[in-house]
Amino acid sequence: MHIRREHPDDFDAIHEVVTAAFGRSGRQPDHGPQVAALVRTIRADDCYRPAMAFVAMDGPEIVGHTMVDGCWVRSASGDRSIVMLSPLAVKPSHQGRGIGTALVAAAVAAADLGGEPLVVLEGSPKYYGARGFEPAGAHGLTLPLPGWAPVEAAQVRLLATYDRADARLRGEVIYPAPFADLD
Ligand SMILES: CC(C)(COP(=O)(O)OP(=O)(O)OC[C@H]1O[C@@H](n2cnc3c(N)ncnc32)[C@H](O)[C@@H]1OP(=O)(O)O)[C@@H](O)C(=O)NCCC(=O)NCCS
Repeated sequence: MHIRREHPDDFDAIHEVVTAAFGRSGRQPDHGPQVAALVRTIRADDCYRPAMAFVAMDGPEIVGHTMVDGCWVRSASGDRSIVMLSPLAVKPSHQGRGIGTALVAAAVAAADLGGEPLVVLEGSPKYYGARGFEPAGAHGLTLPLPGWAPVEAAQVRLLATYDRADARLRGEVIYPAPFADLD
């Protein structure tokens, strides 16, 4: 398995992986088509960061995908751009083998290399907490979580250039347009 940046030739295969990963499982409804469409909408929006969008390869096959997207923190000093990690998807047949962990590491490393101070996301505190993320609230950040999500789902990973004295890094996270209609 190896990780590399996504390329336009990959987009249809990524669509399939994301659709399958977010498909119906147990009592979870099928979010696959919605999240796969979100990935395409992100690429058509200013929030797209192609240098921070990755695929996981098993030989010639794409088995995982993640991307880091531009967003903002709104504080009394105005809006400051930051980044968010979303979505993260691993093909069901390949889950539980460390691929999600490797994709998160690649995305975080790219954001760090790009000089980003932090990465926010919505997700399981257990999963992301074991991968260097912390509760966003502890660092003065609130995320526009859906009504059903617990507050702990708001997570942040602080990076090398993070400055805790910078008040512009505390406030309300504003998602970019592609996320506006999601629930
Ligand atoms: C969540 C997901 C990306 C993890 O990818 P993966 O390659 O299976 O993850 P890894 O093999 O690196 O890590 C496995 C760990 O993830 C845990 N895990 C898997 N799915 C999880 C979930 N939905 N919530 C919390 N933990 C989960 C496993 O229990 C295992 O835990 P451990 O590290 O304590 O042993 C993958 O299961 C997936 O695509 N799920 C559907 C889409 C989704 O929920 N994406 C995340 C949205 S924030």
